[in-house]
Amino acid sequence: MNRYKLFLTLLASLSFTACDMNQNMHQNMHALSSNKEGSGARVIAASNGCMGCHAVSNKIIGPAWKKVSERYKDIPDAKIKLIAKIKSGGKGNWLRETKGKTMPGYEGKMSDEEITTIVDYILALDEARQN
Ligand code: HEC
Repeated sequence: MNRYKLFLTLLASLSFTACDMNQNMHQNMHALSSNKEGSGARVIAASNGCMGCHAVSNKIIGPAWKKVSERYKDIPDAKIKLIAKIKSGGKGNWLRETKGKTMPGYEGKMSDEEITTIVDYILALDEARQN
């Protein structure tokens, strides 16, 4: 095999490997985002730093997500309101729990899909009562 052929063979096998990896990554991402038990949401929340200030059952700096779920369960457009709040950040809705601390805004740092996945997960916590 001359050098040129060897180079081509190497190149071809490299690009096959890259394709396989891409395919696997795609499947993993898909599995994460479609997992019904909310582990997709938990991975997104953890990797975006939400859990530095939030936990499901206790107040950290921000309110417990179960409390958020309870408060918003009968509020019309709860989903739209919470998506907007995560994008813009802000303070004032949880004065007593947070002593007026501010939630940072995530507009441009997370996709709409990621934010929606987390909000669906938070709003379902009240009904699920599994944690
Ligand atoms: C630096 C701390 C901090 C981080 C990081 C943080 N939060 Fe918050 N979060 C807060 C505080 C403080 C509040 C209370 C805001 C208020 O009183 O209106 C809050 C409130 C909330 C609420 C309730 C909103 C409302 O108006 O009732 C939701 C939902 C929420 N956070 C989700 C998230 C998500 C999702 C992330 C990650 C993408 C996140 N938070 C990251 C501090 C934080």
